[in-house]
Amino acid sequence: NYEKLWLGASLLLIVGFISTIVYGAAGAGITMVNDEGGQVNPQELGNTSGFDDPGVTKVGPNEYEVHVVGIQFAFQPSTMEVPANSTVTFYVTSRDVVHGFEIVGTNANTMVIPGEVSKITVEFDEPGEYGIVCHEYCGAGHHSMAAELTVT
Ligand code: CUA
Repeated sequence: NYEKLWLGASLLLIVGFISTIVYGAAGAGITMVNDEGGQVNPQELGNTSGFDDPGVTKVGPNEYEVHVVGIQFAFQPSTMEVPANSTVTFYVTSRDVVHGFEIVGTNANTMVIPGEVSKITVEFDEPGEYGIVCHEYCGAGHHSMAAELTVT
């Protein structure tokens, strides 16, 4: 009957959407694992573990954490380096206004909100150069707000 047909069609559609998302991540040589974060005081980043000294920290054999602070109009740090075949968790927050954090050519893309920590885990399989850009309009210097990630 028609009801079963519609049910089957919508299930197919959902499976199709999911494979599109999975393919999008795999196609760029990265896999996103999750996207969740926590809370932080934007006025106290200098006294907040991780954000007091933004950058790359090795936390396991192939595991890295990267703390990033967005400010008008830059990311701190502006360059970062991790080895290939590593799992990298980015913790990103803002010291002032809402920014964006997008690793160009990948599906890694999040809002950067003062008071909140955006968490994004990415697996980098191959060496490469990735541009990181702010994709939320944040003021006059928005277009120049960028950073570089090198996978060696
Ligand atoms: Cu920061 Cu646009």
